Amino acid sequence: MRKFITTSILLLFATIGFCQNKSTIIKAGKLIDVENGTVLLNQMIWVRNDSIIQVANKINIPKEATIIDLSKYTVLPGLIDCHTHITSQPGGDYYADIFRKTPVDVAIIAHIYAKKTLEAGFTSVRDLGSAGLVDIALRNAINNGDIVGPNMYAATMFIGSTGSHGDLNGFSPYLEFNAPKGMSGVANGVDAVRAQVRFNVKNGADVIKFGASAGVLSEEESVGGPQYSQEEMDAIVSEAKMWGKKAAAHAHGAEAIKMAVKAGVASIEHGSLVDAEGIQLMKAKGTYLVSDVYDDEYILSEYSKLGYPDKIINKEKMVGKLQRENFQKAVEAGVKIAFGTDAGVYPHGWNARQFKWMTRFGLSPMGAIQAATINAADLIGIKEKTGSIKAGKKADIIAVANNPIDEISTLEQVQFVMKNGVVYKNN
Ligand code: ARG
Repeated sequence: MRKFITTSILLLFATIGFCQNKSTIIKAGKLIDVENGTVLLNQMIWVRNDSIIQVANKINIPKEATIIDLSKYTVLPGLIDCHTHITSQPGGDYYADIFRKTPVDVAIIAHIYAKKTLEAGFTSVRDLGSAGLVDIALRNAINNGDIVGPNMYAATMFIGSTGSHGDLNGFSPYLEFNAPKGMSGVANGVDAVRAQVRFNVKNGADVIKFGASAGVLSEEESVGGPQYSQEEMDAIVSEAKMWGKKAAAHAHGAEAIKMAVKAGVASIEHGSLVDAEGIQLMKAKGTYLVSDVYDDEYILSEYSKLGYPDKIINKEKMVGKLQRENFQKAVEAGVKIAFGTDAGVYPHGWNARQFKWMTRFGLSPMGAIQAATINAADLIGIKEKTGSIKAGKKADIIAVANNPIDEISTLEQVQFVMKNGVVYKNN
């Protein structure tokens, strides 16, 4: 009986403790209001548990509240990268990465990249393709609180045709890789691509990613040639939609971009060779452009050292400059822009280096920050819960030393990170 009473009392205390509201007041010297495109001075943010309760210049501080004084800092919403491959990055030997690694090797390391990404100020990512369902395991472990990382929205397998950017090219056909059925993402024909979408969704995909055109970091000949027919793209997008998922198309080439936009994708990834007609079409359909305009820098300086064949480096030389010029044209035409870097092409945690390039090629600093917050949240479909610092949303909040509107590179050194109300970094 005594034991029963003791247990009941303990349980009662535990319940009270659990229900208790943990309040935090963040004092922000400057606060970036991404919804209105303005910078507010001396604001207070009241965070209770995982959510934002109030934002105002004066809040009556609840007496149990913890104060976080960021009055010398600029506070902004947690950043969102709409195109990562958070589970891996080049290991330094192109062929060893292809032939000697399994998804298990990848899984062992992935948590390190997740932590680096969050500590760089990225509280959410849309992860666009990973081997062996490592992305889903990582996302679930983060959501469980087992490991530290951003909120992840994951694509599972990249869907691509035989010989495409998503397939393995340039090697002897006598080498056979026996991925279990559905796990390679290679699918041909309307029925098979629909089946692959279902397989991905069944295994936890939040978003569907497919290859509309050829790519750079793969050995097939073209960079921009379409790799699915219009019928196949239509089937992928409509199947995804049926399951309540948006589709993202890897597309460098002008023709493939237009085909994917017509099929109804939510975003064009890379968009390197987009033409005037493609820009108009994207604008008319409200399709987001997610262009990895930093990567050319890293690939041209590092990828030969990482053992990548000249064939790939030459493709990059062909595409990199045009991608930036066309990005600028799309920005000037008013195409919707969301921030996405293809992180994993370069070391994880460097995501914010792209801001500088986005502002060099047409976006204002505020526009670049909006691309990585409110627009990114809109594209992913999480605008109700994140993407701005507003009552009712999750407390995804970061701070930097200087005002990024005057000095965009300050975003490369994030000093404070809160995700879902939990502080992960506070320098
Ligand atoms: N994953 C992309 C591809 O292989 C990376 C492109 C990088 N180059 C660039 N200029 N953005 O196609």
